[in-house]
Amino acid sequence: MKRKGLMHGADYYPEQWLSRPDILKEDIRLMKLAHINTVTLGVFAWSALEPQEGVWDFTWLDQMMDTLYENHISVILATPSGARPAWLAKAYPEVLRVSEDRKRNLYGMRMNHCYTSPAYRRLVREIDERLAKRYGNHPALKAWHISNEYHGECHCPLCQNAFREFLREKYGALEALNKAWWTGFWSKTFTDWEQIESPSSRGEMALQGLTLDWKRFVTKQTVDFMRREIETVRAYAPSVPVTTNMIGSFIEVDYPKMAPWLDVAALDCYPQWGGGPDYEIAMDAGFEYDVTRSLKKSPFWLLETTPSLTNWPAVGKPKAPGIHVAGCLQAIAHGSDSVQYFQWRKSRGGYEKFHGAVVGHCGHEHTRVFRETARLGEILENLGEIEGTKTISQTALLYDWNNRWAIEGSKGPRCDKFYEETIREHYRALRRYGVNVDVIDEEQSLEGYRLIAAPMLYLVKEELPQRLMQFVQAGGVLLLTYFSGITDENDLCFQGGFPGPLGELAGVWAEELDLLYPQERGGFCCTGESLPGEGRWSCRDYCEVIHAREADVEACYTSGWYAGMPALTRRRIGKGEVWYLAARAENDFLFLLYGRLLERAGAAYIPGGLPKGVTLCTRCGQKERYLFYTNWNGQPVTVEMPEGEEMLRTGEAKGEQGSMDPLETVILKQKLQ
Ligand code: GLA
Repeated sequence: MKRKGLMHGADYYPEQWLSRPDILKEDIRLMKLAHINTVTLGVFAWSALEPQEGVWDFTWLDQMMDTLYENHISVILATPSGARPAWLAKAYPEVLRVSEDRKRNLYGMRMNHCYTSPAYRRLVREIDERLAKRYGNHPALKAWHISNEYHGECHCPLCQNAFREFLREKYGALEALNKAWWTGFWSKTFTDWEQIESPSSRGEMALQGLTLDWKRFVTKQTVDFMRREIETVRAYAPSVPVTTNMIGSFIEVDYPKMAPWLDVAALDCYPQWGGGPDYEIAMDAGFEYDVTRSLKKSPFWLLETTPSLTNWPAVGKPKAPGIHVAGCLQAIAHGSDSVQYFQWRKSRGGYEKFHGAVVGHCGHEHTRVFRETARLGEILENLGEIEGTKTISQTALLYDWNNRWAIEGSKGPRCDKFYEETIREHYRALRRYGVNVDVIDEEQSLEGYRLIAAPMLYLVKEELPQRLMQFVQAGGVLLLTYFSGITDENDLCFQGGFPGPLGELAGVWAEELDLLYPQERGGFCCTGESLPGEGRWSCRDYCEVIHAREADVEACYTSGWYAGMPALTRRRIGKGEVWYLAARAENDFLFLLYGRLLERAGAAYIPGGLPKGVTLCTRCGQKERYLFYTNWNGQPVTVEMPEGEEMLRTGEAKGEQGSMDPLETVILKQKLQ
């Protein structure tokens, strides 16, 4: 179906309103008013489609698909495996999850199913197959939405067996497993595969190799379940794209392992606007978008966000006027080709009756939320040429699920590791230079980047150091920091001194790690040639005591027993450089440092950075480049903008290009040479 503009739509649950044909009719009228061109159907519709085992009812969905098509609205059709009917759980208790304390859940909630259960896999296959056969060639069908926010884990006997199978395949012999998990510690040597159990608060929580492998297994099992769903629908609709709604940086599922099976990467994102300065909320949302886009290095879809409020945080605050348009255009700026909401219409009852929706309980269009949604819809209608344009990043942040799991799971050297905060601090410092940033894991390609930042690279996968070396030798600039090169993939510490295999790159030896109490501050100053020597900088939490073996010293500590020792080093290798930052430096220093690194890397960036509170993202087509500027400050700012046609300005026309009102977005279009 030919669509005008970018995708704009919502999760639509007509099955909740089957006794109200008047409302279903009204929905279509309202969708048109809101410039909705795509809806997601069927996400939790299992009991409406199969009210009893083997009893099917597709009449309402047939009608919906046809009506939507007649009204030029496309459908993203979901497989309903995210929630199941009560009859199913009663008839097949094995589908219910067993929690880590080995108790089987009762029927209830959603995502309460075992990914291993053959019964669940069979029942899901059956319903998916029927949906695919029936609607695979329907002209309204735009894409498949496989399940919903896959997550969670099950510790049932079926999963325990599958876990052991996974371990057998991975290690071959128990001896190898014992070695990898360092089971000599606390007398944990396994002599039979059957002795191995998933981690539990009532059992094993201290064997970090086991915990890591369990998390890998959970991802593998989840992906395996998803792949079966994909295979089922593909068999009947081979050319219909397949996606699933991931949750950005959500730690449970290793998304880089999921993404290869999808045609389009997609996410649900609910920035908590009003919960802090808009700029900071926007930066955090931007990070989520960049994580998702980087999975396939292609445009992604924003599959869920709220038109107003969410009902699950402590305070479900509605978006203030202007935030909706600015926040959703930000997703487009970061590479999304769609804005979809949860949800179209507020339900009368149930868990999410207070969650924001395009249509509220009042049921009409005369609301602020509806007006702002319709306004965005109109804007998206005019941005059709942006669809498919790419985000080209010369800069990448290394952010790996295995590393996150290992850091989080390691007992010491401090409880709060601040890994997630640190990654975002580096992200923000980079973004202030108006550069696009890819967020990649340790296995993704390093090609095309000029600068790679890898803060707190604690767990190092085997091939990474060599790949980083090639990157640097070819002219890349790499930033490493404290608490890096500590363990291999099994969480076994590297022998011969930290940062382990990264030592050869950085040219430093990290002898000790001083950890600061929350109120404590350290200090350092620049002493080398590369950064301005003036001023003292503060640092917190981590101060690594390093020796510059084959590196130039750029900054030295001014505090602690290690005063005078290096706090920042730089080593040239081939055509590139490796920088090593030994302390958790204050944000202003990170900003300064990244300016220098971008310059040395020969990357395109805005010297001096963007004005505070302003973001810039760039997308590239075949012949055009689109620059998205947004002012997240509470007051107007002037931004130096390059020449370009003003394709969109969400505020008042100004006459002068650089002036921006609060929450205003400007898209500049430039011809590529
Ligand atoms: C998730 C789910 C939706 C809904 C929203 C509410 O993203 O996928 O079904 O529950 O949260 O914010």
